Amino acid sequence: MFTITFANPKGGSGKTTSAMLLAEQIHQAGGTVAILDCDPNQNIMQWAAQRGEQGREVPFLVRPVPTEADFLDTVESIRGRADYLIIDLEGTASNLVTYAISQSDLVLIPFEPTPMEARQAARAVQLIQNTGRMMNKAIGHALLLTRVNAAFQTSDEKDVRKETESADIPVLPTAIVRRAAYTRIFREGSLLGELLEQARSSVEGSTISQQERALKPLESAIQNAKDFTQDVVNHITQQEAAA
Ligand SMILES: Nc1ncnc2c1ncn2[C@@H]1O[C@H](COP(=O)(O)OP(=O)(O)OP(=O)(O)O)[C@@H](O)[C@H]1O
Ligand SMILES: [Mg+2]
Repeated sequence: MFTITFANPKGGSGKTTSAMLLAEQIHQAGGTVAILDCDPNQNIMQWAAQRGEQGREVPFLVRPVPTEADFLDTVESIRGRADYLIIDLEGTASNLVTYAISQSDLVLIPFEPTPMEARQAARAVQLIQNTGRMMNKAIGHALLLTRVNAAFQTSDEKDVRKETESADIPVLPTAIVRRAAYTRIFREGSLLGELLEQARSSVEGSTISQQERALKPLESAIQNAKDFTQDVVNHITQQEAAA
């Protein structure tokens, strides 16, 4: 089982959203996914509950945050039941964060590329490196740019990419774009694939340009999530080859 953790002590940096995008695309590709929801807002637990109430299948094993004392046992109990464990962390630094990092094959640090958020992401990298030093092992990690502009790369994003490159901090090549579909999945308890299916049936019989207007944003949102997931898989593969 590969454990991928989303960590950034900065609240609202995109951990939960990115975790869900990854979970769906791994599932789509045939992998089994467990999610440990350690976000106090329990967004993913609520997403799963909403699906349950509507009689829709929950395609992942979703577990709520365990207590600090139960954390390692909970991870152990999931081992063997899924190919991938995704841990969605809370937006603060705590012992739980350290435990989760210690159990991870890859820690992703999502943040919106602005100078202030970049400084906080750098602190998250330090926390991961220190946890690794405590355990005498290198913990794989990479920055993940989120909520970027779909149409062009801002100068902030260019600067952040340059700075991280010169500081030798790995960054996933794909950035997650700001898209309405990524908030809708939580509001409606949906998967991106389901939003596309719904949109396809609602535009049946309309003009080609109406169809394009309705479907294009969703297709782009899914392609972005797929590219990001491929980056994660590539990163893990490279890490394993280097080990
Ligand atoms: N790529 C995106 N496109 C559009 N909206 C986004 C995107 N990523 C995050 N958001 C929105 O930004 C807000 C914060 O995102 P999210 O909940 O994923 O962050 P978080 O790091 O998990 O926050 P917390 O620290 O509170 O757990 C949410 O309202 C979410 O819908
Ligand atoms: Mg969250």
